Amino acid sequence: MKKLTFGTPEALTPTKFCAGLAYTETEISYPTEEIEFYENARGCVLRLPLGESEHLYGLGLQLKAFDLRGEKIVLRPNADPIAITGDSHAPVPFFVSTAGYGIYVDTARHAEFYLGSSNLRTAESAADEQQTLSTSTAELYAHRKAERSNISIQIPAAKGVDLYIIEGETIGEIVAQYNMFSGGGCDAPDWALSAIYRCNTGWDAGQVLKTAEHFKREGFAVGTIGLEPGWQTRSYSCSYVWGERFPDPAAFAAQLRDMGYHINVWQHAFVHPESPIHDELKPYSGNYTVWKGLVPDFAMPEARAIFAKQQKTLVDIGVDGFKLDECDSSDYTGGWSFPCLAEFPSGLDGEQYHSMFGQLYARSILEALGENPTLSEVRNMGALAAPYPFVLYSDLYAHKDFIRGCCTAGFSGLLWTPEVRDARTKEEFIRRLQSNVFSVQCLVNAWYCDDIPWREHGCEAEVKALLALRETLVPMLSAAFAKYKATGVPPVRALVCDYTADPETYAIDDEYLFCDDLLVAPIAAGERGRDVYLPEGNWRDWFTKEPVANGKFHVETEGIPVYERY
Ligand code: GAL
Repeated sequence: MKKLTFGTPEALTPTKFCAGLAYTETEISYPTEEIEFYENARGCVLRLPLGESEHLYGLGLQLKAFDLRGEKIVLRPNADPIAITGDSHAPVPFFVSTAGYGIYVDTARHAEFYLGSSNLRTAESAADEQQTLSTSTAELYAHRKAERSNISIQIPAAKGVDLYIIEGETIGEIVAQYNMFSGGGCDAPDWALSAIYRCNTGWDAGQVLKTAEHFKREGFAVGTIGLEPGWQTRSYSCSYVWGERFPDPAAFAAQLRDMGYHINVWQHAFVHPESPIHDELKPYSGNYTVWKGLVPDFAMPEARAIFAKQQKTLVDIGVDGFKLDECDSSDYTGGWSFPCLAEFPSGLDGEQYHSMFGQLYARSILEALGENPTLSEVRNMGALAAPYPFVLYSDLYAHKDFIRGCCTAGFSGLLWTPEVRDARTKEEFIRRLQSNVFSVQCLVNAWYCDDIPWREHGCEAEVKALLALRETLVPMLSAAFAKYKATGVPPVRALVCDYTADPETYAIDDEYLFCDDLLVAPIAAGERGRDVYLPEGNWRDWFTKEPVANGKFHVETEGIPVYERY
């Protein structure tokens, strides 16, 4: 890994907030002399070479895109991205190439990445223009592609930037180094790897306990009960105080704990005027409100401490999971968040804070949790996030996008759950749960469901079996998290991570590697089967142990195709 400094970098960038940063310089073979840098009125520009056969991945959680070559990606944190624009719950300025390198750009700005999607006018391209007209579509497009041979990056506002170049044999190795650079992957306690059931937001203590008892009695392997907004006196913005539906929170929590459950509570970081910490937080908050609540500046230790103090009242009665909602931003969902021009006492502006918000919020929550381990949820993460035990989720719901998230999150030090909510049919519910069982966090988010969704669809037996299957995966996942922590290898990752030399894997965004040796090929809701590709090596069906030849084949099953390399 090698750090290169261009111009005068900004004072506040993700590395400045990364507690476990571990940089060790090594020699690299990347042609650094080919990197161009200049300042312009918009900030500064980096231009990097791009080889003809390179494929590019990363830049955060991508639900709509996989191979980013040819795309323009703007790193704007946003809920519910609608197209391939870069908008993401968790954009990250780090990408990897099949040519054996990865580049981390240390910025919290909404940087624009033109990944072979912009044509620079050069002497060569002028000559190109004089070529004879193409006679076939293939020729036409081949020509168009050949023109696009650079990566241009515009970083707004900054007059300089640090670049980190990482090299490795495989994309997986490069990603692992990036994760170790940020301090290593997070650990996950075993209990948090069992299923989570998030209850209807309007339920009171009695309804939650009744459901929890039902799961125990009927043998549904749920390990954590999640509460949604309705537990508080105020939730948009939040008070972080138990409301009348939960008259005796300590007794309620104790009952859940006695039954063997862990407890996860929903919240966001916008602090309601009635919250006991509101006034104390005022000097450490931004100059815009959201839903009339303060936006704490979690870059300031004071804000984190005040916020954590309130969350600790929850931890003290047994809460050990949090769902940190709405810390992304909102260009597509009503514009509720703070603007990019907002000012924060730490010196961050709104644009920068959007990139750091989820992570710094998570840091305050970890301070509240102290020694209590967790694997919680969050809706925004950014650069260098691997050490955070927080899993991303989304209000979007297209099943194939959710499966794609399993493939893309791991490129950028992120964890992703393709959560299950409701479904139109039993078949859809089961298909969604199958892919969810084979993800880092098994999550049924029934926050608006009046009844337990699987009861509604009459698929209790199938769900019971799938949740039991999840339990059998816990030791394997637990070991994969330990490996993530020690080596940076993500527990769930795209095939191209491990098989970078195999071009067949370059476009596979619907199969992924799970833990050490499993390859999961979920069947999307509404489909009877799918095409599977198994790279070179020895494979067998994980369920039946029957050997399966590598290569491409079609499979049809009501189950989920899972293969094991041996
Ligand atoms: C959304 C969140 C959902 C649910 C809901 C409750 O922002 O993504 O999962 O928690 O809020 O209001």
